[in-house]
Amino acid sequence: MENIVISVAAPKGGVGKTTTAVNLTVGLALKKKKTLIIDVDPSGYCSSAFGYDEQKIFGNIIDLYKHTKNVHEVIHKTELSYLEIIPFERIGYEDEVIFNKLTLDKSILRLAIEEVKPNYDYIVLDCPPILYGTTVNSLIASDYLIIPIKSSKFSLEAVQKMMTFVKEIRKSENPNLIVDGLLLTMYELNTKASFQIKKELYRLYPNQMFKTAIPKNTSVAESTFYNKPILLFDANASASKAYANFVDELIDKHETSNLMSISGFKNGDFLDDDSNSEHSTSFSQN
Ligand SMILES: Nc1ncnc2c1ncn2[C@@H]1O[C@H](COP(=O)(O)OP(=O)(O)O)[C@@H](O)[C@H]1O
Ligand SMILES: [Mg+2]
Repeated sequence: MENIVISVAAPKGGVGKTTTAVNLTVGLALKKKKTLIIDVDPSGYCSSAFGYDEQKIFGNIIDLYKHTKNVHEVIHKTELSYLEIIPFERIGYEDEVIFNKLTLDKSILRLAIEEVKPNYDYIVLDCPPILYGTTVNSLIASDYLIIPIKSSKFSLEAVQKMMTFVKEIRKSENPNLIVDGLLLTMYELNTKASFQIKKELYRLYPNQMFKTAIPKNTSVAESTFYNKPILLFDANASASKAYANFVDELIDKHETSNLMSISGFKNGDFLDDDSNSEHSTSFSQN
């Protein structure tokens, strides 16, 4: 068992957080990694990607925060035997205000995750586009953070904001949090804008970019319409192939990093002259 907890977060909506969290967990489950996805975004889009709505949810993350159910009572099955989910019913504005107050208790989610962590290879949290509430609670409970970046004009600002926030969290609440990497999403192969953003990201964060980029692909919107993760909706879609590659890259990175720590190597020991190129596979953190 790997027992790795990963948050997928960015201070911006519509950048591919949910799509990434959902397809990452599906991909991990297809690779027979025992995986739990936790939907901590009150919009509940992640839960609907697995076909969960109010009728089918028998306990959710709110019950956990209200102490009306324990963590084992809010875990639901999915169609994949290796993947389970803690869902979040879509709630209205007033309930969200009440819920946000509950999230001021930062230990609830962390303790719940600690309790089930031994049962999973990977636990992945799909965060809302905010830098308080469940995002903070998730980052406190996580070993790693994946930041999805939509290839668009304001993405660099969002990444910088997120990186500053990570530094704060590391200083105060979770010194062990590591930026697993930055993932380009909705990448448009033949546009200058996408290429410029990619180039700038590799200049600013040469060691933190995932090699895989997720292309923009209309099948993703279609799969959302049918409440199916793209990987299960159409395995041949370009975004599916990219997410499958991303899962391989992530597993490889964590297994290699485990092997390195077992054999006494530190992260970054394999940095070489090529570390500024987009093929860099170093693990060093800023
Ligand atoms: N690779 C992609 N190609 C095309 N559309 C995408 C892709 N990834 C996500 N989308 C669409 O973009 C929108 C926002 O994605 P989502 O994952 O919900 O972002 P977030 O969770 O950051 O708000 C959704 O409508 C989704 O279907
Ligand atoms: Mg989302």
